[in-house]
Amino acid sequence: MQHAFDLSVSASGPLAGDILLPGDKSLSHRAALFAALAEGTSTIDRFLVSGVTRAMLNALTSLGVAWDLSGECLTVQGKGLRGFSPPTGPLFCGNSATTIRMLAGALAASGTPCVLDGSEGLRKRPMGRITDPLLKMGVPIATADGCAPLTLSARRKELPLRASEHTLPVASAQVKSCLILAALAADGPTTLREPGPSRDHTERMLTAMGADIRTEEPLTVRVAPLARPLAPLDLTLPGDISSAAFLLVAAALVPGSSILIRDVGLNPTRTGILDVLREMGALVSVANQHMTAGEPVGDIGLTAAPLKAVRVHGDTVVRMIDEFPVFAVAACFAEGVTEVRDAEELRYKETDRISVLCGELRKLGARLDEHKDGFTLRGGTLQGGVCEAQGDHRLAMSLALAGLAAPLPVTVRHAEILNESFPDFVPQLRMLGATAGLRT
Ligand code: S3P
Repeated sequence: MQHAFDLSVSASGPLAGDILLPGDKSLSHRAALFAALAEGTSTIDRFLVSGVTRAMLNALTSLGVAWDLSGECLTVQGKGLRGFSPPTGPLFCGNSATTIRMLAGALAASGTPCVLDGSEGLRKRPMGRITDPLLKMGVPIATADGCAPLTLSARRKELPLRASEHTLPVASAQVKSCLILAALAADGPTTLREPGPSRDHTERMLTAMGADIRTEEPLTVRVAPLARPLAPLDLTLPGDISSAAFLLVAAALVPGSSILIRDVGLNPTRTGILDVLREMGALVSVANQHMTAGEPVGDIGLTAAPLKAVRVHGDTVVRMIDEFPVFAVAACFAEGVTEVRDAEELRYKETDRISVLCGELRKLGARLDEHKDGFTLRGGTLQGGVCEAQGDHRLAMSLALAGLAAPLPVTVRHAEILNESFPDFVPQLRMLGATAGLRT
């Protein structure tokens, strides 16, 4: 049980500083799980230690995987693709959809019987998007009305799954990753077609470990069955661009601010927020670009400048799928009317991030209209006040940032949920010069 707290942020002087963030959440999940599926010992430095990655590590323990965490350095003793031990009870994935969906794929490949469950919030998230294609591949998996708990029944480990073609209904890296993992144990090549450019960390990391995964046509992934064991990992993860987004928007909101965030992942499937902040008028720079562990990495600088409203739609939505709460807060202080379209997928995140985001921003005085696939928002209307995190880590951090630029302070109730992905958020924000207080 985490300690409950409210987070209050009020108008601050210009933000300045040069910071290093914890490792990327998506890459931390993948590195821990794929290391467990490899043969040999993996070393993963700058691993994100947070609520959701703890859920993954605890699940691995229940599957008989030995790991050790020393500060931010994780070592994992791999068990091979079919080496998991059946757990003695349900695996609790907490609030983490990445954990439950990727584990489902790994357990399908390994043929381990298991029940996957999670928090009340996780039990509301759609799972048919993974279980329908897994059933087509011959995985004995059942849902509770399309949601968790998921039950994987026993199957003979030596029998391969059915190679097949899938056209995914949504651009989702969690779905794609689940199916890629299952496809490693199929009897031939599997083809996945997706409607948009979801993050490709799984393809990059498994390829580096020796898997044969090709993306020769756009939005099409071909996965060959695993011919030899996955090689262990030895890498340092880049910083999380989704966490960086909060600090970039914080700086964008306060005139005179200028910050630098070093060693951040710059995978093009994740950088939509940088494009959009630039289009809004913020001065965004990228320097020292290099590759780390198959991923582009670099330093991101942002200098504040007056913000103007933009329209976000199409593939950009997929490339900034986690950044809409913080983008909406930036848009509250931009001149003009911001419009978001093609973003219905936001309704299936930790909360319904269209309706809950609009509801909480309205509590702070913002004027928005909700659409089935997005929202329109009038800049210059947010006043400040009290709102609620609603069990959504990204909403908690985003709403708090509104206090930097609003006429009145902003208090976010039950903000402790931010520990799910960015436990250092408040210290990092203060280090840049923001006025942020906690009340337990
Ligand atoms: C993630 C993929 C995204 C994202 C989530 C992490 C991942 O979900 O929202 O925070 O690590 O693969 P979808 O792929 O379902 O959009």
